[in-house]
Amino acid sequence: MGLKLGDKFPDFKANTTEGEIESFYEWIGEGNWAILFSHPADFTPVCTTELARAAILHGQFEQRKTKLIALSCDSVEAHEKWSPDIVAYCYRHSKTPEGAKWCPMDGDCHKGKEAEEMPFPIIADEKRELATLLGMLDPDEKDSEGIPLAARAVFIIDPSRRLKLSFLYPATTGRNFE
Ligand code: BEZ
Repeated sequence: MGLKLGDKFPDFKANTTEGEIESFYEWIGEGNWAILFSHPADFTPVCTTELARAAILHGQFEQRKTKLIALSCDSVEAHEKWSPDIVAYCYRHSKTPEGAKWCPMDGDCHKGKEAEEMPFPIIADEKRELATLLGMLDPDEKDSEGIPLAARAVFIIDPSRRLKLSFLYPATTGRNFE
């Protein structure tokens, strides 16, 4: 599709780990920013660590009125099976800059209660419809069935729903959320 900076980001419907989103715009809500970032597939090591870092940092995005939403080209059922791996990674790799254990999930671990859920939704795009709409398919990288993989994309969308930043790079390149 070739979204350019300043373009209106498309509104869309999506099935996610937090249920059906009827309108992406409504999900973002008034006055918020949004970051939509994509992953080629569930249960892959780099995607797992990227999602975990985003989960660990989600409170900082929230403080800045920024909603996070991920997309991976698998089903909601697959995402739900994968999420505990991501959360487990959060617990093993979450440290404050001072080195103390820090809770990635809204302070739950401080109360002796382990969070089991991701703090933001993951879109199920198993038919790659959104990946196609948003121009995220990588013609050079194919899955085991020969279907193009979704690249890793990041879109930052401002409160007026305009695209302020985009990154697009191949599945073989990991992403640092710090
Ligand atoms: C990964 O997240 O580890 C990955 C996903 C797709 C292709 C290569 C690596």
